[in-house]
Amino acid sequence: MKPEQFPEDLRPHLTPRPEGEMVYDCLACGAKHPSDQLLYTCPGCGGLLLLRDLQFDRLRRRPGDFWRRLFDHRLMLNERATSGVFAFHEFLAPSIPVEDIVYLGEGRTPVVPAPPELAREVGAAFCFKLDGQNPSASFKDRGMAVALSFLKHLARVKSLGTVMAVCASTGDTSAAAALYAASLGGAVKSAVLLPKGRVTPQQLSQPLGAGATVFELPGVFDDCMKVVELLSEKYQVALLNSKNPWRVLGQESYAYEVAQQFDWELGDLALIVPVGNAGNVTAILSGLLKLVAAGAVDRLPKIVAVQSERANPVYRYYRQPLGARSYAPVIVRPSVAQAAMIGDPVSFPRLALLAAEYEKTAGGPSFFVVEASEQAIMDCMLLANRRGLTICTQGGECLAGLKAALAQDLITPSETAVLDSTAHALKFVDFQNAYFDGRLKDEYGVSTRPELANRPRELSLRGAPEPSGTMSKADRELFVKTAAAEIAAALDLTPKSA
Ligand code: F0G
Repeated sequence: MKPEQFPEDLRPHLTPRPEGEMVYDCLACGAKHPSDQLLYTCPGCGGLLLLRDLQFDRLRRRPGDFWRRLFDHRLMLNERATSGVFAFHEFLAPSIPVEDIVYLGEGRTPVVPAPPELAREVGAAFCFKLDGQNPSASFKDRGMAVALSFLKHLARVKSLGTVMAVCASTGDTSAAAALYAASLGGAVKSAVLLPKGRVTPQQLSQPLGAGATVFELPGVFDDCMKVVELLSEKYQVALLNSKNPWRVLGQESYAYEVAQQFDWELGDLALIVPVGNAGNVTAILSGLLKLVAAGAVDRLPKIVAVQSERANPVYRYYRQPLGARSYAPVIVRPSVAQAAMIGDPVSFPRLALLAAEYEKTAGGPSFFVVEASEQAIMDCMLLANRRGLTICTQGGECLAGLKAALAQDLITPSETAVLDSTAHALKFVDFQNAYFDGRLKDEYGVSTRPELANRPRELSLRGAPEPSGTMSKADRELFVKTAAAEIAAALDLTPKSA
């Protein structure tokens, strides 16, 4: 729709202008640092940072309905910069000018309801938000769009020259980082550190294809993260892990989109989120808190964070009684939810802080953590994929988490669960195939349920010639006839009446 066709009061706001006062806020010592620099930890005490808009209160001067209408109308505006996560510019990263926004088609991912028979089987109505439909096929693009927009902005105003961007990854951050860096055409080069043998071949192909420098390290993600942290401490590099607080801002867009896709009524929803490095769940909590603070929503949804039994430091923390909780990293064991296989989540201090603030704002228990077995994760992923939902193993973890939350009465069947399908099924298809072949037993302890397994069939084609380019007409006819007859018999097809 053309700008002049929008309601008059919204027209001046359709294209956002830079505004607000973003500062890095240290969660450990409370120091505030100007945001016109690359910072990943507090220069004073080394604490973890969040970005805050010191002028956030200006958003409160308008009624909540203004923001709902503005964001709803932006859906009809054909402006690329605000077609993705920056549709929520005022809440997200208001200091970044529109001209610096990097847009590769991220955000606005669909919410797809589970078919009724699957909902009945699970015991509650639920849907998946298919974040695997982002450009690099995972939710990481949301955060990367903002991190790279900021980098582009900073490079322009400070004439930085070529920037080297680095990240450690279980496979999806690296794919997104390499893609968004590549889109800037040489202004940003990227290097990614991956745990050897612990990312899927599809994930490995992504940064290679985008031209990143790829390092495979022995160990697990937590080891790669430590190396990248040291690199960012000692050298001039841009860190693209969610330790970078601009990434967290971008991932808040998931919460804004869910609110919009449910007509800004969140009270009867439960958002289910898989947790690895804890960047995503932190961002979702932060986004929801901003929506309430600005009056754009009245009630908060429940949040259910899910971890595998084999990588569960957050679950272990929250299962301790309130007031007597202590955090300890865990040594991870192989998990099919491999992208979330993290024993010492970098964002844990942010999560603990925001979850407490969230429950205070919601006025009661509303943040829960459950764990899922490897068997449940795999079975749930396959169950959903068999009903038209293209989810990955982390999506399967969400569905297993929903079942656990229902069994523990943390959520009731009258609430609608929104599950985060964080990546596309095809990135993790090797786990599916290994399950079908019965190869997951030893390392992951997962047995194949025969009713979920599926393999290609071969035909015997007894008496039929092998097809080749030089086949005679008669031979080809015989081959086609034999194959069709065998397939019809296998499928028990009914012949058409003459
Ligand atoms: N799901 C997928 C598909 C992921 O790639 C990740 C994290 C998570 C869930 C967990 O999200 O870390 O924000 O709690 N992947 C990171 C990576 C660590 O390097 O790609 P989180």
